[in-house]
Amino acid sequence: RKTKMTFFATLNRVIVVFLLILSYKSYGDEQQESCSQRCGVHNITHPFRLKNSPKHCGDKRYILSCENNNQLILYYKPFGKYYVQSINYNNFTIRLLDFNHSSYSVPPHPLGSYNFTSGNFITSPYQVYGDRFKSMVEPILYVNCPNRVQYSSDIYFPAPTCINISDSYPQHGNSSIKFGYQKSLSRLGLEDGCRIEFMYLTSWDLQDGNNSNISCTDIRRMMLYGFELSWSNSLCKDGWFSYLDDNSQRRCRHNGNLLQTTQPFSILFYLVS
Ligand SMILES: *[C@@H]1O[C@H](CO)[C@@H](O)[C@H](O)[C@H]1NC(C)=O
Ligand SMILES: *[C@@H]1O[C@H](CO)[C@@H](O)[C@H](O)[C@H]1NC(C)=O
Ligand SMILES: *[C@@H]1O[C@H](CO)[C@@H](O)[C@H](O)[C@H]1NC(C)=O
Ligand SMILES: *[C@@H]1O[C@H](CO)[C@@H](O)[C@H](O)[C@H]1NC(C)=O
Ligand SMILES: *[C@@H]1O[C@H](CO)[C@@H](O)[C@H](O)[C@H]1NC(C)=O
Ligand SMILES: *[C@@H]1O[C@H](CO)[C@@H](O)[C@H](O)[C@H]1NC(C)=O
Ligand SMILES: *[C@@H]1O[C@H](CO)[C@@H](O)[C@H](O)[C@H]1NC(C)=O
Ligand SMILES: *[C@@H]1O[C@H](CO)[C@@H](O)[C@H](O)[C@H]1NC(C)=O
Repeated sequence: RKTKMTFFATLNRVIVVFLLILSYKSYGDEQQESCSQRCGVHNITHPFRLKNSPKHCGDKRYILSCENNNQLILYYKPFGKYYVQSINYNNFTIRLLDFNHSSYSVPPHPLGSYNFTSGNFITSPYQVYGDRFKSMVEPILYVNCPNRVQYSSDIYFPAPTCINISDSYPQHGNSSIKFGYQKSLSRLGLEDGCRIEFMYLTSWDLQDGNNSNISCTDIRRMMLYGFELSWSNSLCKDGWFSYLDDNSQRRCRHNGNLLQTTQPFSILFYLVS
């Protein structure tokens, strides 16, 4: 009987030591200095990684590239090449700008929310929707109308005097730039015969579009600000998505299953200490 007790006592100790090693190792990996890297002004840390980061660092879904002149670049498969303007670790967002965008011309490729919402988008690494499915982007439209559009409370700007539109888009005195602000196209005041020639996205906050007193400089600033995407799905396994429940607890969901995103390491750590 005594030997049995000793056996279990020893076994217990072995398990505790094993758990300690396990949790120390996992915890250590996450915190390892070598996993945090800099690229220009950007701090790159979990879940982001550079192509040449050590294998155990970051998350394979969030690979960035640090290129000449310390430019941080995201190659996002469906769309191409983007400058990373900022990574915000406080609210799980990343702000991007088209690689070929310059202050006096429209970006070469049109972009709308629809580019991010096809297929199984809800579990994709980057989302145009933030928490509670609030859109983080607003459309910028380049519009041609048969009549000169009235300068209304809606934001409108005569395009050709403001930015250089590429030759591939028609331009004349009735071209304008409009900002969406979650309005449907009819509520944007586009009359019959108006054509949307080009669409782009911004996350610039213009006070609900209630400010008609903006300049060309403002327009350029809005376009060059870029757009934000959420990477909160990094908190969940691949194929799952992150959301806030009614109590503002972050959870992961997959096929109707709910799971709290508690780190397994912290549970272990708690048990052991
Ligand atoms: C990057 O990290 C360093 C040290 O962790 C910190 O001092 C610095 O403010 C950070 N910079 C940015 C842009 O977050
Ligand atoms: C967004 O989708 C449209 C329509 O499918 C496509 O023409 C455009 O090139 C896409 N934008 C980018 C940046 O890939
Ligand atoms: C996220 O944080 C950045 C920097 O603090 C801020 O500029 C941005 O507006 C925030 N985005 C959202 C969606 O809260
Ligand atoms: C975008 O920029 C790259 C690199 O400067 C260039 O090779 C490419 O032709 C540009 N694409 C467009 C559509 O302007
Ligand atoms: C611009 O609008 C005016 C009326 O406001 C119209 O007479 C003119 O034909 C329009 N120009 C073009 C190129 O559509
Ligand atoms: C358009 O581009 C030309 C040549 O690059 C430049 O001289 C002109 O000032 C630009 N116009 C605007 C409105 O930025
Ligand atoms: C827009 O501005 C006007 C005048 O400044 C104000 O009365 C109105 O409440 C504003 N609307 C919104 C939605 O902020
Ligand atoms: C519009 O902007 C101009 C220049 O910034 C300023 O002088 C003017 O007071 C503004 N008007 C309103 C109504 O805000």
